[in-house]
Amino acid sequence: MHLTVRGVRSVEIEMSDPDRAAEFYAKVWHLKEIDPVDGVRYLRGTGAYHHILAIRKANGAPSLRRVTFDATDRAMVVRLHRGVSAAATACEAPHEIDAPGGGYGFGFTDPEGRNLAVICEVADHRDGGDIADRPRKIAHVNVNSADLASTTRFLVEVLGFRLIDETVALSFFHADNTDHNSFIVARHSRPTLNHVAFEMPDLDSVMRGVGRMRDHGFPIEWGVGRHGAGNNVFAYFAGPEEFPIELTGELLQIDHTYVPRGPDYWRWPPGRLDQWGVTDPHTPRWKRIQDLYGFTPGAFRL
Ligand SMILES: [Fe+2]
Repeated sequence: MHLTVRGVRSVEIEMSDPDRAAEFYAKVWHLKEIDPVDGVRYLRGTGAYHHILAIRKANGAPSLRRVTFDATDRAMVVRLHRGVSAAATACEAPHEIDAPGGGYGFGFTDPEGRNLAVICEVADHRDGGDIADRPRKIAHVNVNSADLASTTRFLVEVLGFRLIDETVALSFFHADNTDHNSFIVARHSRPTLNHVAFEMPDLDSVMRGVGRMRDHGFPIEWGVGRHGAGNNVFAYFAGPEEFPIELTGELLQIDHTYVPRGPDYWRWPPGRLDQWGVTDPHTPRWKRIQDLYGFTPGAFRL
């Protein structure tokens, strides 16, 4: 059996004003809030995952607290822990999780200081199924890397991702699911967050989401367009406290027969930034907020 995580289950963020952020993600972004516990706000998508976004009060600057990957079962968690504990800069032992959704897993810090976690056996919802105009799940997290070689090695050799495509700027990583990618790494000077992408069920839902964002005073920072690698539709925004978020949809579905390509293949003709040729270049603000959020220092324990 191949050793790998199943994709991104959830992200946890720290905001100066969690109430305002939770209201945005429920009313404008169209997630659904479930009961808060100990002041932490939890929001789910239409998929089965117990929650895909957790929001807590920031002690200092707003930050990305954690990215949590899903695993099939305890045996996989234990196998992954064996490799992670040898390669991570900090790692806790697998344990029962005392937080909404529960489960079994462990948190750790990767070689560039990102707080990551692997969990299984979460009390997920039984009513998962697409609803028009509502996000299903986290499609991908895109992080920045100042040491692409060591981060790639960790993702592939320790967490089991397959490096699936590479452009000049980005490396795409495929997990144990049919999505072209679940994790993306951008070449950069600092190991910060680039953005978090939420998956809409179809193109129409992406476009309705874009319209709703504009209605509420959130301009498009880049898009709408259709990417090359992954073939997904994209629109990027600065969410509350300028957290960098993407609405995406129609991501390419693949299996083991997919043939990865490199930067020579994934190249646009002059003046073009997406397949349709409709998007303008990203705004200066998008460029800035792609490097605005760091991981919460030291917060690796679940
Ligand atoms: Fe993206």
